[in-house]
Amino acid sequence: MSKQPIGIFDSGVGGTSIWKEINMLLPNENTIYLADSANAPYGLKTKETIVSLSIKNVEHLINQGCKIIVVACNTATTNAIYLLRETYNIPIIGIEPAIKPAALNTQTKAIGILATKGTLSSELFHKTTDLFASDITVIERIGEGIVELIESGQLHSEAMRNLLKLYLQPMIDANIDYLVLGCTHYPYLMPLLIDILPNHVKIIDSGEAVARQIKAVLEKHDLLNTSVAKGNCQFFTNGKTEVLASLIDDTLKVEYLDF
Ligand code: DGL
Repeated sequence: MSKQPIGIFDSGVGGTSIWKEINMLLPNENTIYLADSANAPYGLKTKETIVSLSIKNVEHLINQGCKIIVVACNTATTNAIYLLRETYNIPIIGIEPAIKPAALNTQTKAIGILATKGTLSSELFHKTTDLFASDITVIERIGEGIVELIESGQLHSEAMRNLLKLYLQPMIDANIDYLVLGCTHYPYLMPLLIDILPNHVKIIDSGEAVARQIKAVLEKHDLLNTSVAKGNCQFFTNGKTEVLASLIDDTLKVEYLDF
């Protein structure tokens, strides 16, 4: 069982930012990555639709023999993780915006969070914010249009810079010292974000923490792949293969799959 792959899915190409953290920490693990780009963005869909798309993705990965599922999407996690965990009896790891470390460490008592509408309106997100950030100012902004630009290969466009300036200005005005990236597509915006934000603003995401959690859960269930060989990593998308390929190493193959 430990040689079985780690199954990872996202609404599209953004979850590759999580795959990279997993692969860096656990290079011997076999992985299967599913990009549901044909249905991106999830962020504007209803909870019911996000849940049923998540079920479709999880079932595909379980049918491929995955030993653990990583929901590499904040929107799918915050809307569907409880139901997924109730339904399937393999470990399911999700990703949520890193509100807690930002709220604990802020000096200016103001933090920014950029995420999808689906994440910011979820019950789980509100619970976390109430628990850790009730005594500070939290400037939330929906990153409307960002996922669409990344999915259409316009990551480095002027349109992207303009959108980010628009969403970040109220956060800069509120003197935030932490920006939380609440969507797995957003780590790819890092160079632009660094350019737009004042130097003292720290930008955080949950990728590394999730990879460490996956390792701990695999250890706990005796599922760590102890092979010394480099893992076999497969990438599938029901969208444009070239957009997914542009975000990962040239040596990795991306295949089109209608799932
Ligand atoms: N990567 C997804 C997330 O983390 C993007 C959501 C979307 O498709 O809108 O939320």
